Amino acid sequence: MKIEEHISLKPLTTFGIGGKARYFSRAGSVAELEEAVVFAKKEKVPIFILGGGSNVLISDEGFAGLVIKMDILGIEFVPKKSGVVEVVAGAGEEWDYLVGLAVEKGLHGIENLSHIPGSVGAAPVQNIGAYGVEVKGTISFVEVFDIESGETRVLKNKGCQFSYRDSIFKGEKGKQLIVTKVGFELKSNGKVNISYRDLEAYFSKKKVDAPTLAEVRQAVVEIRCAKLPDWRVIGTAGSFFKNPIVTKRSFVALRKLYPELLSYPWSKGAVKLSLAWILDNVCNAKGFHVGKATVYKNQALVLVNEGGASAEEVKELASKLQALVKEKTGIMIEPEVQWVE
Ligand code: EPU
Repeated sequence: MKIEEHISLKPLTTFGIGGKARYFSRAGSVAELEEAVVFAKKEKVPIFILGGGSNVLISDEGFAGLVIKMDILGIEFVPKKSGVVEVVAGAGEEWDYLVGLAVEKGLHGIENLSHIPGSVGAAPVQNIGAYGVEVKGTISFVEVFDIESGETRVLKNKGCQFSYRDSIFKGEKGKQLIVTKVGFELKSNGKVNISYRDLEAYFSKKKVDAPTLAEVRQAVVEIRCAKLPDWRVIGTAGSFFKNPIVTKRSFVALRKLYPELLSYPWSKGAVKLSLAWILDNVCNAKGFHVGKATVYKNQALVLVNEGGASAEEVKELASKLQALVKEKTGIMIEPEVQWVE
């Protein structure tokens, strides 16, 4: 295990923003991870685990501790009961590579999560979701390294406390847990799910009623390419905020003000609102900018770095949007992207 110093984090994030890591190390195995953790404990510095860098905004001052780039690789397909295969992947594998492999092998469950940048290890942390599917529906287990005890253990799905863009790993209790490996239960005899509006529209336009797995993956890729910026070309971390979940009562009141307000059913007493719709139609936010940090022209929930934006500019733009949404709707919106300093 090698510890490097003063490493720029900017190129390791899809936003293309961020200062330097005081210490930096790559962990290709649990043993290397353990060594890196021991080093941070000895130096009494905090640890930050970096996956694909696709959901973080790193401060311009960087991180004054040890950044560990998760590089644990390996993908196995383990047949379970009939029609079910458990896919076990190292946290450092690229998420979309795994989705592509699963689709090639005819395994259902994560095809709607195609083309999401980032690593396998980040998928449970963030409970990634798109096109009507959340990864929590397929995760069988998450193997973690516990910084406090120095041991590796396994959490079953329930133990991960998944909810919308959230899990135990984001909260106080999960802070000392580093994801090293994830198990997914996929089905060889599953059905595709094309109930999400954009997918339904895509296939009805093509007059396809029963798309194959590969066709669903292709559809998701095309829809995402049309709406979301290509992070290889323009700096971004995808949706910057979470869609707000409000009580039915607040929803009814808001709809009086904005009759076209777009929403999704959530639970008995709650509704999930489309923040992209609010930012676009209520706040007219497309094109708003602070310096080189801009609200993306095709998707108002997405903030982009037009080239050379600072973390402070993104933060200021985000605060402005928060204040505007609060003023217009009374809702305090929360970032989805993790702030690192
Ligand atoms: N819309 C607008 N204006 C816009 C963009 C969207 O009015 O500028 C309306 C459209 O009617 C559209 C609807 O909002 O049909 C929903 O937009 P979209 O399908 O893009 O979904 P979203 O709710 O904005 C969420 C996820 C995305 C995920 C998509 C697709 C969150 C925070 N974001 O966005 O995830 O790809 O659904 O399922 O839940 C991410 O997390 O980084 C991400 C990109």
